[in-house]
Amino acid sequence: DAAEKGGYEHFMAKEIHEQPKVIKDTMTSRIIKNEKIRLDDITITKEQIKNIDKIYIVACGTAYHAGLIGKNAIEKLARIPVEVEVASEFRYRDPIINEKTLMIVVSQSGETADTLAALREAKRQNARVIAVTNVVGSSISREADDVLYTWAGPEIAVASTKAYVTQLIAMYIIALFFAENKGTLSNEEIEAIKEEMLLLPEKAEKLLQNEEDIKAFAEENHMHKDMFFLGRGLDYAVAMEGSLKLKEISYIHSEAYAAGELKHGPIALIEDGTVVIALATQESLFEKMVSNIKEVKTRGANVLAFAMEGHTEIEKTVDTAKYIPRTIELLAPVLSVIPLQLLSYYTSIAKGCDVDKPRNLAKSVTVE
Ligand code: G6P
Repeated sequence: DAAEKGGYEHFMAKEIHEQPKVIKDTMTSRIIKNEKIRLDDITITKEQIKNIDKIYIVACGTAYHAGLIGKNAIEKLARIPVEVEVASEFRYRDPIINEKTLMIVVSQSGETADTLAALREAKRQNARVIAVTNVVGSSISREADDVLYTWAGPEIAVASTKAYVTQLIAMYIIALFFAENKGTLSNEEIEAIKEEMLLLPEKAEKLLQNEEDIKAFAEENHMHKDMFFLGRGLDYAVAMEGSLKLKEISYIHSEAYAAGELKHGPIALIEDGTVVIALATQESLFEKMVSNIKEVKTRGANVLAFAMEGHTEIEKTVDTAKYIPRTIELLAPVLSVIPLQLLSYYTSIAKGCDVDKPRNLAKSVTVE
């Protein structure tokens, strides 16, 4: 068992630490400087890509959160409208699907019953399906028209970490591939994004060298009953993932909110000492986010904020500020999720929970 965990106390720690490597593995041979995106196994043609008038990204749990980032990336880079839905909702609501629809299903295991059912429904109505999955030969990989594998390697901990970051990379690759085929970006724009992507492994590595601060925060705050995660834009999607991680393995009630929605409800719950994790990595939304943080601060919240390196002015507003290495906004989620994973990991340990096998949860939900 100890050997399988590679010297770590839990699979989750091992998997968190494997992230620089799996990010790299998922890009290798696909993202090469000054070459077109290489997706050799993908059969969808340029003509078919140009004909897509709508994309559904369908998934469950953490994979759904990766889909939210995927929507943003595809709409921004390839200018195709995308809807993201949890599979258990999608399959029962009679969605509009036709031969111009593309469905992207995201599933670590490739076996999630609801996701598989959504895929089958899309195929029945003549849509094309691209699967983003981690398991070669899984049901979803066999039934999709095309498969883009995430090279995360086996993920054992129930709470998904390394699979999520590879799903994000897969989403960026698909967005770039579509942008290239549709001609929505110039070569220079595409190269600039690829260049930043290729720097992500070493930046993730750098983040993992600063665990102690997050551990200390977790140890000081693990007794709280509730926590709130706030963000705008992509930070909101990352907040949702951070919140899910925390509730899954530490059993602390947590909610993620789009920071601009605060005043429409959750602000009523903020009182003296309420823990708020604020993500402020999106530079174009930074000022707006700081205003939202001020709103919770004046109501007594204890705020831990994450910003991109260089934005030290945030220290004037928050209780604790942490930084992620600089990258472009679009790619920030790959980095900002890492301290949130560590936060839930150390909170779970501080509470004495079973990190790798949280109560009531399964690694893969193969029944409805
Ligand atoms: C379960 C797991 C989650 C996972 C979700 C979707 O809830 O505990 O970690 O995100 O299923 O699984 P999939 O294999 O389809 O990505």
